[in-house]
Amino acid sequence: MQTIKEYVQSNKDRFLEELFALLRFPSISADPKYKEDVVKTAEFVAERLKEAGADNVEVCPTAGNPIVYGEKIVDASLPTVLVYGHYDVQPADPLELWETPPFEPTVRDGKIYARGAADDKGQFYMHVKAFEYMMRNNALACNVKFMIEGEEEVGSANLETFVKANKKRLQNDVIVISDTSMISMEQPSLETGLRGLSYVEVEVTGPNRDLHSGVYGGAVANPATILAKMIASLHDENNHIAIPGFYDDVIELSAEEREALNKAPFDIETYKEDLGIGEVWGENGYTTIERTGIRPTLEVNGIWGGYIGEGAKTVLPSKAYAKISMRLVPNQNSHRITELFKTHFESIAPKYVQVQVKPHHGGEPVVTPTDSIAYKAAEKALEEAFNKKPIPTRGGGSIPIVALFEKELGVKTVLLGFGLDSDNLHSPNEKYGIENYLKGIETIPSFFKYYAELSK
Ligand code: BES
Ligand code: MN
Ligand code: MN
Repeated sequence: MQTIKEYVQSNKDRFLEELFALLRFPSISADPKYKEDVVKTAEFVAERLKEAGADNVEVCPTAGNPIVYGEKIVDASLPTVLVYGHYDVQPADPLELWETPPFEPTVRDGKIYARGAADDKGQFYMHVKAFEYMMRNNALACNVKFMIEGEEEVGSANLETFVKANKKRLQNDVIVISDTSMISMEQPSLETGLRGLSYVEVEVTGPNRDLHSGVYGGAVANPATILAKMIASLHDENNHIAIPGFYDDVIELSAEEREALNKAPFDIETYKEDLGIGEVWGENGYTTIERTGIRPTLEVNGIWGGYIGEGAKTVLPSKAYAKISMRLVPNQNSHRITELFKTHFESIAPKYVQVQVKPHHGGEPVVTPTDSIAYKAAEKALEEAFNKKPIPTRGGGSIPIVALFEKELGVKTVLLGFGLDSDNLHSPNEKYGIENYLKGIETIPSFFKYYAELSK
């Protein structure tokens, strides 16, 4: 029997080649143009699961993109781990900002550059390879179920139906997801919370048609200007969100909890330098770690209207738009927040314009336990792989399925992520360290081993 370390060493090149093949599929879920590629990606994932030794592998159709399922039930008396991941990726644009093409994985400086490298292909594929090791070395200490979906980046709209219809098949003792970040290779960490999400699109309409900006400008309110003012008013002078009731359900952390959170290594100068910003910004009274972990936020994700083509066109637009997201923290509810936003945004619209607020997908916030067997097993496995005890952190991103799993299956999740915040998720030049990838593969079998041991 080979140890996982030996196995990773002797199969390293193949592990990378297989991941590169997966990364070459442009499985962009947001754009229907890529539907065929998305389906091919699902089939590819299913094939790799079969090869690794999974049974009952199936590409399950949904009303949207297929979900890949596979399992290995070794013994009904053993605990069952469900591995969740997503094979879909974010759009790659703006393409011109990529140093190498997004769907031609390229290694530079020990990092794999490609869309989806860290989010989430490189991360869920670690589980497929770790599973392969456990199968070939008779070391699978738990039953395992894989559920790899294709709509995470667009809000997992069809997952709820699938989960509800497949409760029995999906039944498990713990869910493991590698789709989050850790602090660094020197300081492993485990995210213990994810924020929720409320996402809206707003449309502000002024005059009933585009107008000549010289003939009408100055006499008719410009919806782009009005929209900009309305958006600016959503934060007050302390950068608190100025929507009445917005903070009502937020649970404030105790001074001790905040202190513990702020003990995580974080260098503000490196942070600023990495991002090319002169100063950080955010809600007064909170640190950067708190602003991205335990506080709700409101961000404009896109804003447009009028003429945005080449050169200059003199026009006073009839309409202006924005896409706005709000990240939510435990006890806030995405539906309630969307309603509060809508009511408020409509109420601040001046007479010159009409506004429409369209809700998009959302998701609920979660905190994951740090006193569970699964968390302890993850802690031990990370400590073994990194020679350092991992620390708990709160993540800024959202994975809405975590709250859904809790609601529908009554099962908690361990967020065993190996990415870094600097991996350029959703940005040009997304990357994933080869070391992160291989260390992840190395850590996962220990997690299974410790989880089985601690479950006894
Ligand atoms: N993997 C991310 C979420 C993430 C990233 C969590 C980094 C923690 C650290 C996931 O793929 C994602 O991007 N989720 C979306 C939400 C979804 C509903 C579109 C997000 O957070 O914007
Ligand atoms: Mn992801
Ligand atoms: Mn993502």
